[in-house]
Amino acid sequence: MFAFIVLPVILSSFIDLTHQARTSAAWSYADEPSWPGACSSGAQQSPINIVTAAAVADHGGAVIRAPLQFRGYGAVDVSAVNNGHTLKWNAVPGGPAPTLSGGPLQGNYTFLQFHLHWLSEHAVDGIKYPLEIHFVHARTGLSIEEALQKRDGLAVIGVLYKVEKSPDSGHALEELMPMIPSIMNFTENEPTSADIIDLNRIMGADRSSFFTYQGSLTTPGCSEAVQWIVMETPRAISDAQFKLISSADVGGQANYRSLQPNNRPVYRSVSASAALAPSLLTLLSALYATSPSLVAAAKKTLCGLVNLKKKLLGLGGINCEKLVG
Ligand SMILES: *[C@@H]1O[C@H](CO)[C@@H](O)[C@H](O)[C@H]1NC(C)=O
Ligand SMILES: *[C@@H]1O[C@H](CO)[C@@H](O)[C@H](O)[C@H]1NC(C)=O
Ligand SMILES: [Zn+2]
Repeated sequence: MFAFIVLPVILSSFIDLTHQARTSAAWSYADEPSWPGACSSGAQQSPINIVTAAAVADHGGAVIRAPLQFRGYGAVDVSAVNNGHTLKWNAVPGGPAPTLSGGPLQGNYTFLQFHLHWLSEHAVDGIKYPLEIHFVHARTGLSIEEALQKRDGLAVIGVLYKVEKSPDSGHALEELMPMIPSIMNFTENEPTSADIIDLNRIMGADRSSFFTYQGSLTTPGCSEAVQWIVMETPRAISDAQFKLISSADVGGQANYRSLQPNNRPVYRSVSASAALAPSLLTLLSALYATSPSLVAAAKKTLCGLVNLKKKLLGLGGINCEKLVG
């Protein structure tokens, strides 16, 4: 398995400094501390480090009342944009929209869009993955504005992806690849023409094991309106796919928010497993908890860490002089 361990709270504070802020985007990942509203004042923010051993197995069905149900995900009409922060595929309005229900959700949620984060936003037992895709749904019948005002207004499915050399590693995202070259640069106002894609293929067949918790959007204004459902089983993408995706211009070298306080219960579906936490993971959890005080000390080693990460991903090194000052 290709996965690597990073100190996201520390990395994300510095990693974007080598790039100019975009004029097209009103906020940036380089500037997280100044994100407004709930981003700084909220109490249930996302993403978090999911500690599997601490996740509550919901044997009684108190939160996870039924299996997740996916209706109409096989052929979805989407168009793609680069909005300056992410690569995003929007459901074309008026088409038959996929509907999510079950799991921790009460009622139906209509699929709106999915988008990509590299590195992953959620960590699982301290491990971040190269890519995470968020499938965003709003409670059926609510406008986005209404959904953002409700604790259960949105349901977002997170799927993690590792980079693998296996022959079928290109399968999951194969349908997206032809669209990516045309959204390498900011294209907010010129979405690609619509295409029909299979969301089941991107998400993968194994959707019975997941973690779920109450949290927020991970971009400003960070509305605390999201029931998060993070799939347990990571999927695979190819090295070439990761390189193409992560070379898209989203205003910096990465587009993930740093980890937020892990201050509320995370539930796991009965089929999801808890890792046997080795001592390294305990250590990492401790690091997350105390990360602000580590920032100064980490500055010196940061450049090494970033370059190690980039080496693992097959990307070029970065200029250390710009980071360590
Ligand atoms: C959810 O959608 C299904 C299928 O359209 C429908 O049968 C069901 O009544 C809906 N549930 C609610 C709570 O609206
Ligand atoms: C993106 O911008 C770069 C630099 O301005 C340019 O060389 C490239 O052709 C652009 N790509 C697309 C798909 O527009
Ligand atoms: Zn997202």
